[in-house]
Amino acid sequence: MRIAITGTTGQLGGRLHALSGSEAADGMVLIPLGRDRMDLSAPESIPQAIDEAQPDVVLSCGAYTAVDAAEDDRDMAFRVNGEAPGHLGAACAARNIKVIHISTDYVFNGQGKHPYLPADPTGPTGVYGASKLAGESALLATCPSASIVRVGWLYDRDGQNFLNTMLRLSKSRDVLTVVDDQWGCPTHVGDFAADLLSWVRLGQEEEMAIAGVHHYGHSGVTNWHGFASEIMQHSAPHVRVEPVSSDAFPTRASRPAYSKLDERDFFKRLGCLPISWEVGLERCLGAKLDRSKTD
Ligand SMILES: NC(=O)c1ccc[n+]([C@@H]2O[C@H](COP(=O)([O-])OP(=O)(O)OC[C@H]3O[C@@H](n4cnc5c(N)ncnc54)[C@H](OP(=O)(O)O)[C@@H]3O)[C@@H](O)[C@H]2O)c1
Repeated sequence: MRIAITGTTGQLGGRLHALSGSEAADGMVLIPLGRDRMDLSAPESIPQAIDEAQPDVVLSCGAYTAVDAAEDDRDMAFRVNGEAPGHLGAACAARNIKVIHISTDYVFNGQGKHPYLPADPTGPTGVYGASKLAGESALLATCPSASIVRVGWLYDRDGQNFLNTMLRLSKSRDVLTVVDDQWGCPTHVGDFAADLLSWVRLGQEEEMAIAGVHHYGHSGVTNWHGFASEIMQHSAPHVRVEPVSSDAFPTRASRPAYSKLDERDFFKRLGCLPISWEVGLERCLGAKLDRSKTD
């Protein structure tokens, strides 16, 4: 089975591509479709890249992800996040290729009090979330069998993310101040990538099981202060983590106060149980340690 992956220079796409040759990717050829082959802001490059790659499935991870910059760069955010999925869907539907597209918790307004279900009303508060929501609609309009997997709070052992920022700061500080009024579920990209390949397999066996909108994540919910505290407990227990309100760190785009996604249906379809966000973190830190031993 040939799987083309967009966004392979990014956190998720890169991790998916790195699974080439692993047990999780057994029987799969993972083909990177970077910006050089498929520029999501240039619609004509999309069918062309698909014809060159000849995939059975496209895992669509490429996106304009600069949440704050998007507020001042609306046109590009909408071209890449809002329109490209529609072009991708049209190209794939015409060639009978399956599409699995990644979306975000930012499609919700964050005022919820319970884990969001896929059918809950959306209401993005910023350009990034609005552009991603437009992309979901554009994709389903051109490719109704597409699978959309929303996720939030991604981090991994490599790259720029909250985990690595906290680990870096803990080397030079004894006290960290972290917001405690934004709630969600930190999600380890390593586990997400492996589960996405299982999702691909499920879609090959039973197309309708993965069609439509789904929510992924680990089980449990925390806030950034809780996540930072757990990171420090494992890696730098001498560092004190102080809670602070979001007002202390103003950002160009507002962040949802609550964006936990209800992951249970996703795992029910896969026939397994989700791991907790704490276990995801332990696995990620373990992988980081293993890697540093071999470096
Ligand atoms: N990170 C999170 O916490 C988070 C949370 C919820 C949902 N998501 C979603 O998860 C998916 C993966 O996110 P990520 O964290 O892996 O993002 P990322 O690390 O920022 O990577 C984004 C990828 O998209 C590519 N890209 C951007 N503009 C492009 C264009 N015009 N043409 C082709 N490729 C382009 C980038 O390529 P270049 O290197 O060439 O720029 C990069 O490979 C996205 O759909 C994102 O919306 C992420």
